[in-house]
Amino acid sequence: MQAVRLGVIGAAGSMAGNHHTYFDKVDGLDYVASCDVSPEVVEPIAEKFGTKAWTDGEAMIRSGEIDAVFIACPHYDHPRFCRAAFEAGVHVLCEKPVAVTALEAEQTDTAYMLALKANPGLLYAGMFNQRTNPAWVEIKRLCTDGSLGELMRISWTITNWYRTQAYYDSGGWRATWAGEGGGVLLNQCPHNLDLLCWFVGTPSRVTATTALGKYHDIEVEDDVTAILEFDNGATGTFVTSTGQTPGINRLEIAGTNGTIISDGHRGEGLSFFRTATSVPEFTKTSPERFAGVPFADLTIKPAPAAGTEHERVTRNFVDTIRQGGTQDDLVAPGTEGIHGLELGNAMLMSGLQKKPVDIPTDRQAYADLLDELKAKSTFKKKVVTDGKPVDMSGSFA
Ligand SMILES: NC(=O)c1ccc[n+]([C@@H]2O[C@H](COP(=O)([O-])OP(=O)(O)OC[C@H]3O[C@@H](n4cnc5c(N)ncnc54)[C@H](O)[C@@H]3O)[C@@H](O)[C@H]2O)c1
Repeated sequence: MQAVRLGVIGAAGSMAGNHHTYFDKVDGLDYVASCDVSPEVVEPIAEKFGTKAWTDGEAMIRSGEIDAVFIACPHYDHPRFCRAAFEAGVHVLCEKPVAVTALEAEQTDTAYMLALKANPGLLYAGMFNQRTNPAWVEIKRLCTDGSLGELMRISWTITNWYRTQAYYDSGGWRATWAGEGGGVLLNQCPHNLDLLCWFVGTPSRVTATTALGKYHDIEVEDDVTAILEFDNGATGTFVTSTGQTPGINRLEIAGTNGTIISDGHRGEGLSFFRTATSVPEFTKTSPERFAGVPFADLTIKPAPAAGTEHERVTRNFVDTIRQGGTQDDLVAPGTEGIHGLELGNAMLMSGLQKKPVDIPTDRQAYADLLDELKAKSTFKKKVVTDGKPVDMSGSFA
C-alpha cells in the first residue's frame, strides 16, 4: 500500500507542533508539505521535517503533491480549506471545530456530499481525539448497546478547561468574535459537546446563561450554564468555565437501566450503577413506598490504548485511506462535527438572547448574530508572545 502524502495547514502553530511529535510513528504517513502564513514562519518547520514549505494552503491542496490535508489553522478558515480539498479530491482531516457556525458546517457537508459523487473514496475526518479515549469509548458502548436503556438525564460539569489571561493574550485571533468566533464553547468544549451528542444524541432545546469575559479580559464567553431538553423528555445540564480552578470533569448519565458516573480526569473513576430491572417499570410496579431499585455497583476499567488520542485519530485516518475505507471506518467523520457545533451555537444564542433555542437552530439567524457581534466589537486585543515553544500537554483537559 502506498504511503499517504500529507500536508499540514497551520504547520507552525501550537497544535500542529503537537501533531508533529507522532507523525513518524504512524505507518504509511509521509509528511511532505507544511503551510503557514509567511516564509519566515513556515520555513524553519519545513527544514526541520524535510517538507516543502507553502504559504498558500489552497495552492498546496491543488498542487497534486499531497493526498491528504490536515487543517490545523484557526477555525474560521477550516471550511474554505475543506471545500478546496474536496474540489481537488484531497482527503481532509480537520481540527475541531469543523467550522465556527453550523451554517458553515452544513455548507461544508454539502460540498463533501457533492464531491463524494465524483470521488466515492474521498474521506472527511474531524480531529475529535477524545472519541479515542478508552473511558469515553466504554461510555459510548454502554449508551448504544442497550446497557443504559433509554436516556433520562445527562449532566456534565466540565470546568477543568482553566486558562490564564496569558493564554488569551498569546494569539491575536483567540477569544475574539472576528478571530475565533466564540470562547469556551468554541475552543475548549467542542470535544465535550461532540462527545455528549455522540453518547446520547443531540438535545432538541437549550436554555443557557453565557457570561462574556467574566473571568478574563476577553469579549467572548468564558462561563456557561445550560439546561438541555431531549425529544424523549430527558433533560440535562452542561456547565463549563475557563475561570474556575481546580476545575472538575464530572459526567453523569442516567438511563432507564442505571446510571453511569465518570468523575475525574477524562473518565478515570468510571462507574455504572446497573439496575436489576427497568427503573420506570419498578416505579410502576413496586409495592414498596420507599424502595430503591436493586443495582450492581460496577467499576469499569477501560483497556489502555497505545499512543496518544490525537495519534490514534490520525492513524485511523491514514489507515482508512490506505485500505480504501469509507466514512463509516473513521473514528470521527467530519460530517458529525456539526452536531456538537450546533449545540454550542445554540447555547451561545440562548445566553445572548436570554431565551430557549430549539435545535436544529435557525442557522442563518445564528450566523447573522455572530456577524452583528463582530460588527459591534470595540474590543482591542492585547497580544503578548514570549517566543518560547508551547507545551500543549497541559491543555487537553
Ligand atoms: N484537538 C485538540 O486537542 C486541539 C487542541 C488545541 C487546538 N486545536 C485546534 O487547532 C487549531 C489551531 O489552534 P492552535 O492552538 O494551534 O493555534 P495557533 O495560533 O497556535 O496556530 C495556528 C497556526 O495557523 C497559522 N495560520 C493562520 N491562518 C492561516 C492560513 N490561512 N493558512 C495557513 N496557516 C495559517 C498561524 O500562523 C499559526 O501558526 C484550532 O482550530 C484549534 O481549535 C485542537
